[in-house]
Amino acid sequence: MLNNKKILIGITGGIAAYKILILISKLIKQNCQIKVIMTKNAEKFITKLAVQTISQNKVYTDMFATDDFEIDHIALADWADLMIVAPATANIIGKFANGIADDLLSTTFLSFSSSKKIFIAPAMNSKMYENFIVRKNIEKLKESNKNLNIIAPDEGILACGAKGIGRLPEPEIILEYIDNFLYFDNLPLKGKKIVITAGPTREYIDPVRYISNDSSGAQGYAIANACAGAGADVILISGKVSNSIALINTIKKIDVIDSAEMFEAVKNNFKNSDIFISCAAVADYKPLDYSANKLKKDNDDLMLRLTKTQDILEWCGKNKKKQIIVGFAAETENLIENAKLKMQKKNCDLLIANSTENIGKSTNKIFVLSKDNIQEFSETAKQETAKIIVSAILKKINEYTN
Ligand code: C5P
Repeated sequence: MLNNKKILIGITGGIAAYKILILISKLIKQNCQIKVIMTKNAEKFITKLAVQTISQNKVYTDMFATDDFEIDHIALADWADLMIVAPATANIIGKFANGIADDLLSTTFLSFSSSKKIFIAPAMNSKMYENFIVRKNIEKLKESNKNLNIIAPDEGILACGAKGIGRLPEPEIILEYIDNFLYFDNLPLKGKKIVITAGPTREYIDPVRYISNDSSGAQGYAIANACAGAGADVILISGKVSNSIALINTIKKIDVIDSAEMFEAVKNNFKNSDIFISCAAVADYKPLDYSANKLKKDNDDLMLRLTKTQDILEWCGKNKKKQIIVGFAAETENLIENAKLKMQKKNCDLLIANSTENIGKSTNKIFVLSKDNIQEFSETAKQETAKIIVSAILKKINEYTN
């Protein structure tokens, strides 16, 4: 969605300003044209030269520059397709919310058409972020225009060493948020509660050994991000995956290790959900006996007895009331036949069939099965596959409500 867009970026004076260099570099790689306005305080944290070099464009700082004839705040606002202000300090948020225009960024914000999207990513110390005036200003901005979006800050260790809310999300999260938000215009899943399982389970044999699989969690996380971008309340129940997978911070994540924990978490959240997406690669079998002590290699052979795990998706299919259920099938052979059988057996509304070859990869190639239809899609990044899946869910919602 961001490809070839003209993006105006406002950088204000916060320590997180350095992250915007990475954001700009990623946008340039997507063929975006970037123009940047830096406030005076932003220049205390990163240099104009660095931003100019990375954005491949002139950087604007001065309200009264005399080096050309254009009126910068009008020309910049007219030029851009969308605007991102990150990091946004309490000061600039206060100015935006109250119509104060005393520098180039605040003046350009007021000149920016209300029909174009604006993304504002607050980042500051948690005490400032939680201050009632800052909260009020953020609420005022949210209500002022449906095209203005606040990208909520993350929790974590802040620059001052304190722990709390106020960190600027990582650049890839900001991009994934904006990309999904632009794709699913008008928040079509607003008010919907979605439970998603993702990643592998680990079925422990002894304290250090387990049975698992190569699932990276990337597809499930991308679906969670797409659902959040479409406005849903998302609960992601995740097996152990790499910490580096980008996840939008409005998503509630429940970490689990084995299939029993995953089942418990699903049971606790299924009843209140509208949609259940079973993307996790849940182990089908687990060791019958768990050894509390590390197994010794006393014999040449070791017999491991396995027993079936609970089929979580099947349980959801049996217990569904209003829920739309989306299952997955990864197969090495007879993909479509097996997927059809699974859809029936587990009472799914949609089934996403993919070859096992894409497990652990960054791309996926899927077939979307519903009761009377099969659609094939070409191989694409898992973020794009997530959009296809969420679009299929939206179609199902429409089908059931009309
Ligand atoms: O039967 P199979 O394991 O191939 O089915 C895959 C689908 O079932 C996936 O959606 C997976 O998340 C789900 N599943 C489950 N619980 C299991 C095994 C699979 O929810 N124990």
